[in-house]
Amino acid sequence: MKKLYMVSLGPGDYELITIKALKALQNCDAICVPTKSADNSFTRSMTFKIVEKLMKEYAFEKDIIPVYAPMNFKQEDWQKQVDIIEDSFKKYDNLSFVTLGDSAVYSTVYYLLDIIKEQHKEIYEKSEVIPGVTSFSHASAKVKKPLCVGDSSFLIRPLHKSKVPFTTVYMRPRIGMSTDRIKEKNDIYTFENLNYKGETILDYKKEKVDKYMTLFIDFYDRNE
Ligand SMILES: C[S@@+](CC[C@H](N)C(=O)[O-])C[C@H]1O[C@@H](n2cnc3c(N)ncnc32)[C@H](O)[C@@H]1O
Repeated sequence: MKKLYMVSLGPGDYELITIKALKALQNCDAICVPTKSADNSFTRSMTFKIVEKLMKEYAFEKDIIPVYAPMNFKQEDWQKQVDIIEDSFKKYDNLSFVTLGDSAVYSTVYYLLDIIKEQHKEIYEKSEVIPGVTSFSHASAKVKKPLCVGDSSFLIRPLHKSKVPFTTVYMRPRIGMSTDRIKEKNDIYTFENLNYKGETILDYKKEKVDKYMTLFIDFYDRNE
């Protein structure tokens, strides 16, 4: 019964971790913590500081597994990280891998999950991604300015490159409206009543909106 939790830690303030993330850390056998130091030390690791603080504050202790994670965006580096996780499952049944902010936003988590899906299907199928507070949600709260309200929208753009594929999130539909105006480009999903009665997740665009609590995500094309 191996289980891998991909745990989002939030934007650096340990109090901005979710209860679900905290429970995953408390319930796992060991925590995989990325470090940019080749000697596997954690002196510069913000993730380690958060985990350490949580263990102290909530009185639990877990083995810490350093995962060397240079920011080179190389397949071989992600492969080595997956190998460490895979190897750790020989000793532990439940592992957490931690990431800053929310795992959905520019995180290593999905590079690793892509490899795990390919090479260790049984671990992939038992894995769970736990979302978190993003750096920009936190930044918005700090200055008390919304990211979008009323008829506005907001964009997240990488500064290092100008032309990039993008994901679009469609929110605030009217009940009964047609979704014709959504010209899906990539890989669209419909999410209804998430965490409420009647939660539905469809891997296509519903033609008509039945519930106010509906959002559509047209995920970017990962092969572009
Ligand atoms: C690799 S991305 C990770 C984003 C993260 N997963 C999130 O949900 O915010 C790192 C970028 O996020 C932004 N970022 C993350 N933490 C931040 C912080 N504490 N203060 C300011 N910007 C931050 C910076 O733009 C940084 O270059």
